[in-house]
Amino acid sequence: MDKTKIISEADLTQINEMVAEYCQQKWPLIPLVQNIQNEFGYIPPQSIPIITKNLGLFASQVQGVISFYAQLYIEPRGRHVVRVCRGTACHVRGGKTILKLVKHHLGIEEGQTTPDLEYTLETVACIGVCALAPNIVVGDRVYGHLNPKKVEQLFKKVGE
Ligand code: FES
Repeated sequence: MDKTKIISEADLTQINEMVAEYCQQKWPLIPLVQNIQNEFGYIPPQSIPIITKNLGLFASQVQGVISFYAQLYIEPRGRHVVRVCRGTACHVRGGKTILKLVKHHLGIEEGQTTPDLEYTLETVACIGVCALAPNIVVGDRVYGHLNPKKVEQLFKKVGE
C-alpha cells in the first residue's frame, strides 16, 4: 500500500495553520502532533518540514518524539483498528487460530493496514477479559468467546 496518503494543498494549508497556532506555546510539539493526528488520523510526513521550520527543531528531534510514543503514527491507519489478543488465556483457547483467521479475512499481516484504509491489524498482550478468551477488540468494542464462525460473521458485520 502507498504509505504516503495524498495530502492536498488544502491539507498543507491546514497543517501550516495548526503549526502557527501552536508555535507560540512553551512546549508545543506533543500537543501539535497530537492535534495533527486527530485531524488526519496520522501525522503526514509532509508535516515534518513545516513543524521543524516553524518550531526551530531538527527533523530528527520531531521524528524522535513521534517514534517514542506508541500512540503516534506516521502512516495512515484503518478506520477500524483490529487488536487480536496474544495473552496466555487467549493463546491456550485458540488465539493463534483466531489471529490466523483474522489475517486471512483482512488479507494483511500484523502492523499492516488494508489498501482501502478500512482495517489496521495489531496484536496486544492481555486486554483484561481473559474469562471471555479468545478475544479481539475492534475499535473500542471487545468480541469474546471467538471461534472461526464468529470471526467470519464479525468481519461481514463490521465491513457493512
Ligand atoms: S489473555 Fe486475552 S484477554 Fe487476557
